[in-house]
Formats: sequence, structure tokens, C-alpha cells
Amino acid sequence: MSLPERNAAAMSTQAPTQTPTLEVRNLCTSFYTRAGVLPAVRDVSLRVAPGRILGLVGESGSGKSVTGFSILGLVDAPGRISGGQVLFKGRDLTQLSAAGLRELQGNRIAMIFQDPMMTLNPVLRVDTQMIEAVRAHRTVSKREARAHAGRTLALMGIPSPEERLRAYPHQLSGGMRQRVAIAIALLHAPDLIIADEPTTALDVTIQAQILSEVQKLVREQGTSLIWITHDLSVVAGLADDVAVMYAGRIVEQGSVADVLDRPQHPYTQGLIDSLPSRNKRGQRLRQIPGMAPDLLSMPTGCAFAARCSRATSVCAQEPPEREIAPGQTVRCFHPGAADAQ
Ligand SMILES: Nc1ncnc2c1ncn2[C@@H]1O[C@H](COP(=O)(O)OP(=O)(O)OP(=O)(O)O)[C@@H](O)[C@H]1O
Ligand code: SF4
Ligand SMILES: [Mg+2]
Repeated sequence: MSLPERNAAAMSTQAPTQTPTLEVRNLCTSFYTRAGVLPAVRDVSLRVAPGRILGLVGESGSGKSVTGFSILGLVDAPGRISGGQVLFKGRDLTQLSAAGLRELQGNRIAMIFQDPMMTLNPVLRVDTQMIEAVRAHRTVSKREARAHAGRTLALMGIPSPEERLRAYPHQLSGGMRQRVAIAIALLHAPDLIIADEPTTALDVTIQAQILSEVQKLVREQGTSLIWITHDLSVVAGLADDVAVMYAGRIVEQGSVADVLDRPQHPYTQGLIDSLPSRNKRGQRLRQIPGMAPDLLSMPTGCAFAARCSRATSVCAQEPPEREIAPGQTVRCFHPGAADAQ
């Protein structure tokens, strides 16, 4: 797709009818450990269209990172994709050779990790790495590429970008490194970026600035973005669509407007109720009672049942994924608005 076409695609609000950049179908990834088989990702399906942002949200251990790693073919032993397809522009990445995957990773797909040093090269200056990122897909002079890199650093809220460009990664603070890693991923202008909580450790104001710039650049470039986070307020400000994970499954999925305004799954409602903005000052934060199940010894039926006030005997079976409104799916036998129960 040419850039103008991609931009037009990004402007469209009719995402569900667009050909997705990424379509994940029934993905399953397990870890085959000494203690037993740990099903970290169970039957996950999602789609991301060009220029759209999907927020992947859930508590710690729900399978967000393993989903991201699985899409990129980065799951190491004892983990393995045990089922499903990862279609990137129609090609199933789970069937690609290691060399084919590496080519896409360096080129059309980027991952931004929690640890920026997984992306940054410690022995190269920041400008060298950023110039390479720009020139990987644009025929511009080194000088132009460097200027573009400096502007992108400034957009990420980095003071004195000229000085930072001359630095090596170890000369920067953790927060700076993280912003450089995000800038490099964006400069590559890939078709797909998977970002795994890269702004969690940053100051709230800087985080808001970065999210707004990332959103702008992704729309301009027609990049599809999956932003992994445990923070629903980040999803609310950044994403178009949201997928809520619990114990390896997506329990609710749809547009941010639908899911956050009209959550149907009791777990999504619990997450929203525990947002600080929903709680009165001075009161203890409302938390979802109980704990997520141990994935090594999963109960049969709905994994949320032990914490769910709506659970009935039918919940001893596995709830299927159902579309309850156009574009909004939920895995629950008793979906509905909280106050309707
Ligand atoms: N290398 C591994 N070996 C065994 N189990 C693993 C491995 N990596 C992840 N897991 C398990 O897979 C499950 C999902 O982990 P994952 O890292 O995807 O969670 P997450 O949603 O990203 O959590 P967090 O918010 O803490 O980053 C967890 O139970 C975790 O313990
Ligand atoms: S399926 Fe049953 S236990 Fe699971 S979330 Fe829905 S009501 Fe609760
Ligand atoms: Mg994680």
C-alpha cells in the first residue's frame, strides 16, 4: 500500500471492514515445565487494521507478554505455540522459517520491550542507531536522517536532543533509554509495532506526552500498534480497540468506547471499578476480590468463577466467545451491565 493509501486507511473509522495488518486466530502457547504444562495463552483471536491501536490489558500473569512474544515468534523453550495462526498481511508467521521471521522483525514488524536494552545496541551511539532506522526505509542523506532523529527525540520529550544523539545508551537514564527505544521503533515506520508496557516506569506527564506522539505517528504512518499494559487509563487515552485478558484468554474485546462505557464481562467491570479515578479520595481503592487461578492447575469452566459474584452452576463449563453487540465480544454466560444484575 502506498503512503497516501495507508494514510487514508488510517483516517477511516470503518476499521472492522478493512483488511487487517495482523489477524491472530485461536492462538495457544504453553510452557512445558517440570511442574506441568502451563497454558499461558489460550485460544486468543484478535485483529488490528492499519493505523489502528489495540490496547491489550489484564492483570500480571494474564498472558499479555506471551501473546506479544508469540505473535513475533519470540517464545523460547520450554514455551511453544501449540495451536492457531498469526496472519501478518495474510502470511502465517507461525509457518515462517527463522530467517524469514528475522527479516520481518528487522523490517516490517517492531517490538518495544519493557527493557529498552533489548532493542538498543550498547556499543553504538544513539545517532548511529537512529540514522540506520530512518535510512532502512527512506533514501535520505545521513544529515537529513540525523535531523529527523533529533526531531523525533524532541517529540518524545527528550531535552537537548543534540547532546543525546551523541551519547551511548549507558550514558542515558533508564527513562531516556526507553524513549530512545520507542523513537527508534517509530522511525522504522514498520507495519506493526508491539509495545510491551514501555512507559510504565515513566513520569505521568512524560507518559501522556509520549502516548500522544505515538498515537499521532502511528496514524500518519498507517502502522498497526498493539500496546500492552495493565493500566486501563492508558488504554482509554491511547487505543481505538481493547482486548481484556484473564488467565490466558481474551474475556472481552471491542472498541474502547463500547467496552469502557458498557463493559459486559464482570472482570472488565472490576478493572474499571478499581481505577483510581472511579474511587473517592481518601477511600481505599476498590479491588477485585480474590486471586487469578494458578495456570498449572486450572479449574474447569470459567477461570474467573471463584471471584465472580454472578457465577452459577453453568459457569462450571467453559464460556464460549459470543458477539453481544456489533464488534463487541465477551466470554461469559451472564454478560451485562453491572447495575442490571
Ligand atoms: N519462560 C517461562 N516459563 C514458564 N512460565 C512462563 C514463562 N514466561 C511466562 N510464563 C508464565 O506465563 C504466564 C503469562 O505470563 P506473561 O508474562 O505473559 O504475563 P503478563 O500478562 O505479561 O504479566 P505482567 O503484567 O506481569 O507482565 C504466567 O503465568 C507466567 O508465569
Ligand atoms: S461465565 Fe460465569 S463465572 Fe465466568 S465471568 Fe461469566 S458469570 Fe462469572
Ligand atoms: Mg508482561
